[in-house]
Amino acid sequence: MTCRVGEPVLIANPHPAKPIRLSGVLILALCTLGGMGACGDAKVDSGATSTSASGVSSTATPAVSAVNSQSPDPKRGAALLTKFECWRCHEGTTKASTIPVAAPVEPTPEAMVKADNQHCFDCHRRIIAGSYKAPKPSTTERWKKNVEALVHVPSLTGAHRRFKRSWIEGFLAKPHDLRPRLSPTMPKLPLSPTELRDLAAFLVPEEKPSSPPTITKAAVAEGRALFENKGCPSCHFMTGTGSLKGNPAKKADEKGLSDAQRLAPDLRFARDRMAFETIVTWVRKPQSIKEDTAMPETPMSEEEAQKIATFIIGEELSPIEPQKIPTRLPVLTRQVSYEELKNKLFNKICWHCHSDADYAIGDGGPGNTGGFGFVPRGLNLAAYDGILSGSTDDKGELRSIFEPMPDGTPRLVAALLARWKEEAGGEDTNIRGMPLGMPALSPEDVQLVETWVAQGHSPD
Ligand code: HEC
Ligand code: HEC
Ligand code: HEC
Ligand code: HEC
Repeated sequence: MTCRVGEPVLIANPHPAKPIRLSGVLILALCTLGGMGACGDAKVDSGATSTSASGVSSTATPAVSAVNSQSPDPKRGAALLTKFECWRCHEGTTKASTIPVAAPVEPTPEAMVKADNQHCFDCHRRIIAGSYKAPKPSTTERWKKNVEALVHVPSLTGAHRRFKRSWIEGFLAKPHDLRPRLSPTMPKLPLSPTELRDLAAFLVPEEKPSSPPTITKAAVAEGRALFENKGCPSCHFMTGTGSLKGNPAKKADEKGLSDAQRLAPDLRFARDRMAFETIVTWVRKPQSIKEDTAMPETPMSEEEAQKIATFIIGEELSPIEPQKIPTRLPVLTRQVSYEELKNKLFNKICWHCHSDADYAIGDGGPGNTGGFGFVPRGLNLAAYDGILSGSTDDKGELRSIFEPMPDGTPRLVAALLARWKEEAGGEDTNIRGMPLGMPALSPEDVQLVETWVAQGHSPD
């Protein structure tokens, strides 16, 4: 069959008045089942700002070739927001652009309940706020501890006033860590080059030309002094600049931080993300660009803002230090049981995306029945039988998650190691890191999984 990524497909159903609108996920699944594996996950140049129009659907029918025309299509970008379910993690999707976007969910009571159960950070926020409780207070307390680092995500409000389009495109193609004190990261979604281009055009439909000032060492030094004296380093890191006055060191246990500290970006990236003029406005009046920002307004003159912005774009930065990938620990000699892994990992961390579809009103999560634009992999990690059943490959065939990857590492372990690589700024091109976009497992936890697999992954 022909791959029609991103196009709604209408199929017959028992109620002819209401045609069923297949979601993007299902279309992708059909495409891949039809043997067009390339539809699932387009390979994108690493880090590139891809301008190529030859996306996944280049073998196109006439309907698709319109989509593939050279000029980016922000309206199609708006539709991709729904297809890739950006709203499940980000607030502000309807205020991100000047291009109208469909409300993420239709406001029926059933749809609202489903949406509540799909929004990854909202529920965690409700747990912290105390409005979502377990039957037992002691369980609620445990939940609070476990979700504390999983409640903050930047909203996309005002993206069109803030970002450079080229930055958005490159970032979505190969996301990297932006916020030193935020533990989740933007996951790498299965976006084709055309989709990347259209999403970036949606988020930034129009760009004003920018004319940054001439950078002199003296101006940068003056800006740096202002930056320090105004207390900016109490929230912001700027890696590659040497130590900044008033910059609290990062602790191993990053608990008890304010919302603003968690959400403050590493300012080394600001010059790639924003035009000089935008930075000047932001530094003085952040709310004029993003009304729901957690950054407070600091009183200053226009001239001071210019100087600080000159420091932000002009400071000489040393290259990003390569992060160390943790060392893999040797397999344990003691017996590791399924029960132990279930309580510690599978039914604590993984089942949020790999759950039992029957248990969760048909939605087994992005790693099972599909979501965030991923094809359904059918992997249920919430029960031993599910783990044993494995997942489906790009051709729709079942495979074991214990099967060795080309280098001999079992698929399950390879996914966990790939997350280490991603957190260190790299990527494993054979498999996505797990847990997707969430903090990597500790070496001790990976060791448990490896031991269990090496001991024959028994159900006891
Ligand atoms: C599973 C959760 C998740 C999904 C789904 C998701 N994002 Fe993100 N995104 C994040 C997180 C977490 C960050 C913050 C990353 C950081 O600061 O390092 C982020 C950051 C971003 C940023 C940078 C914003 C900023 O203020 O720095 C943009 C732009 C973005 N995402 C766009 C999107 C778009 C567009 C989609 C849908 C196509 C999407 N995201 C889907 C979790 C998600
Ligand atoms: C209806 C509420 C709810 C929703 C929706 C929800 N979570 Fe959770 N999440 C929880 C609770 C409760 C815990 C703590 C569980 C525990 O301690 O046993 C948790 C914990 C987690 C943890 C483990 C943290 C740790 O290290 O212990 C991860 C990871 C996680 N959630 C990810 C997600 C993702 C990804 C999504 C979206 C696909 C999601 N959650 C949606 C309620 C929710
Ligand atoms: C209380 C914490 C806090 C303080 C103090 C603070 N900021 Fe921020 N800043 C933030 C947060 C949070 C964001 C991200 C806001 C968002 O995405 O909503 C941000 C964003 C920025 C950005 C945009 C960078 C990017 O890559 O998106 C710049 C530039 C910036 N701040 C400069 C400054 C300067 C200059 C000062 C001092 C005058 C300052 N900030 C003080 C919290 C703070
Ligand atoms: C935020 C959602 C999310 C969380 C949390 C998550 N996964 Fe996944 N997982 C996915 C998605 C989506 C895919 C499909 C990725 C793809 O198609 O490239 C996947 C795929 C996988 C695969 C590969 C399947 C295959 O056939 O290639 C393995 C193995 C896996 N996950 C294991 C885990 C484990 C173990 C955990 C917990 C430590 C976990 N995942 C947590 C979303 C998640």
